[in-house]
Amino acid sequence: MTEASTALVLGASRGLGLALAEEWLGRGWRVIATARGASEGLDALARRYPDALAIEQVDINAADAVRTLRARLDGRRLDVLFVNAGIARAIEASPATADEADFLDMMLTNAFSPVRAAELLRDLVPAGGTIAVMTSELGSIEHAGGGWQLYSSSKAALNMLMKGYAAKHAGDGHVLLLVAPGWVRTDMGGSDAALSIEESIPLVVDMIEANRGEPGLRYVDRFNRRISW
Ligand SMILES: NC(=O)c1ccc[n+]([C@@H]2O[C@H](COP(=O)([O-])OP(=O)(O)OC[C@H]3O[C@@H](n4cnc5c(N)ncnc54)[C@H](OP(=O)(O)O)[C@@H]3O)[C@@H](O)[C@H]2O)c1
Repeated sequence: MTEASTALVLGASRGLGLALAEEWLGRGWRVIATARGASEGLDALARRYPDALAIEQVDINAADAVRTLRARLDGRRLDVLFVNAGIARAIEASPATADEADFLDMMLTNAFSPVRAAELLRDLVPAGGTIAVMTSELGSIEHAGGGWQLYSSSKAALNMLMKGYAAKHAGDGHVLLLVAPGWVRTDMGGSDAALSIEESIPLVVDMIEANRGEPGLRYVDRFNRRISW
């Protein structure tokens, strides 16, 4: 019997990250899911999948917590590392009106910390494996229409940081994906969003599967369509 594949999802307490964990568990994978604190959603999943789900505590903004996770996973092999954690603050604001702290929090959580996590965990992913990071359609500079200006800027910064990461680690043989899931009804996306979680996440996981075996960085939506930078 072949060994089950393993996904590590960083930021899986609720919303899209929790759904990613559930989707891979449903497909027979092993999942390591991280949360900053208690998560009712992950606890419920652990009752359904007691052998396949492991829950770890990590705040991705705390480098030491990510290093501790790396040490705890020593010897494990990750088929997919998915950095999902993200925040949206001051979505109506511009630099003229925003609280600076909100912008700095987004730049740290949405751009800097995900790529630092990829740097600290990449050696757990073998050549041919996948590192995916949740960005957004709003991270596209070409398509920017001014909405969610500060959040969009943090996702554009994430995309740029991943460009640099990809150039630095071209020899890893990793599939590197900047994932745009669509506008989805979660705490962040809000109730007016176009898609249910069920309309987005299974397609995201299909898309990751479709990219298997093709190393290099791509900015893609859930249908595996390229998005303009
Ligand atoms: N929903 C959408 O329409 C949409 C569209 C495009 C992109 N995205 C992106 O998709 C990702 C998930 O969004 P969502 O809609 O599921 O948002 P959400 O419902 O607000 O969930 C955000 C998740 O990120 C976690 N998180 C935030 N800061 C963290 C940190 N410092 N360390 C670890 N985990 C942290 C949260 O954990 P806690 O429970 O501890 O807060 C939660 O699990 C984000 O990167 C978001 O930018 C969402």
